[in-house]
Amino acid sequence: MTGTGAFVQPVPRARVLAMKAYHPPLGNRDALRLDFNENTLACSPKVREVLGQISASALTRYPERESVEALVGSHLGVRPGQLVLTNGVDEAIHVLFATYLGANDELLLPVPTYAMYEVYASVTDARVVTVQAANDLQFPFDRLVAAITSRTRVIAIANPNSPSGSVATRDQIIGLARRAPHAVLFVDEAYYHFHGETVIDLVGKVPNLLVARTFSKAYGLAGMRIGLMVGPMDSMHWIRRVISPYSVNSIALACLPAALEEAGYVDWYIGEVLAARADFESALDAAGIRRWPSRANFVLVEIGPKHAEVVAGMRAAGVLVRDRSGDPGCDGCIRITIGTREQMRHAADALNKAMEKLRGAGGLQ
Ligand SMILES: Cc1ncc(COP(=O)(O)O)c(C=O)c1O
Repeated sequence: MTGTGAFVQPVPRARVLAMKAYHPPLGNRDALRLDFNENTLACSPKVREVLGQISASALTRYPERESVEALVGSHLGVRPGQLVLTNGVDEAIHVLFATYLGANDELLLPVPTYAMYEVYASVTDARVVTVQAANDLQFPFDRLVAAITSRTRVIAIANPNSPSGSVATRDQIIGLARRAPHAVLFVDEAYYHFHGETVIDLVGKVPNLLVARTFSKAYGLAGMRIGLMVGPMDSMHWIRRVISPYSVNSIALACLPAALEEAGYVDWYIGEVLAARADFESALDAAGIRRWPSRANFVLVEIGPKHAEVVAGMRAAGVLVRDRSGDPGCDGCIRITIGTREQMRHAADALNKAMEKLRGAGGLQ
């Protein structure tokens, strides 16, 4: 050691010091996991087969993503150069914000929405401008339009949105892109598979539109961390400058072709979730529990002041759900991921019992 003073820890940037900690409730999840909107079963058998064939020597090499990017691009019908694979949509968000958001810029966000937009924005020098949805939690199109300024640099929308499950229409997305031609309109289609509507076909035609997708949800590959972002060539050129060339690992790259090939498995899973969602929503309605209509693999439910007790009661019955009471406009709400019909019967039963404990008889049927 040189010098005479004691060790001093270097201080992070002021923006980092001011960041709110984000702690997803991971750990101890050995139960029915209806808390993270994951696939509640497994990835496809073909992916598991590929996993078993990965050699030790393959892992000694740095991952090469180009050929898989070309394959995924043609699967989605986008031109080469318009697509970049990412370490989940989270990396897409991080890289997009790092590429576009500077000091004096504004990120426009309808809320409530996915927490990581604010997390990654707060590492930049930009200002976050939130636009609160009304009590119905529908996409606040008019309020968003009214909040666009000359400083708006990125508008980020999850479509379908989490935790509400609500959607923006294609016309609204085009309308927003037109009204903010100086900003990037980022449409996060993480839950596309359960909604079935996309604007990916508009990439390259609407010059400021970028779209993200993930393999974490319907495909059951959340642990592999694989997603993608598509956008006009020019934008992707800058995105490629910022993204690490190795952020998508070689295991994910090896499995992706098999995941895409086995469309039957994903289609089956989506069908199962949609049927389970309809059953579960009917059960909530029959029990008089307020819910918001959902186009995704989860449903937001209003419990009231005893939301934490219901989450704990369901956990005790082996069902994990997510308390979203702290989200803006979601006071007293929990979010329940939709799995298979059988799993959701178990979930309805657990919710029923937890509610009964609180309010006497008359819970879910
Ligand atoms: C709207 C939204 N976007 C992105 C993600 C994260 O996706 P990934 O696992 O690909 O990073 C989530 C995860 O819950 C999400 O809700």
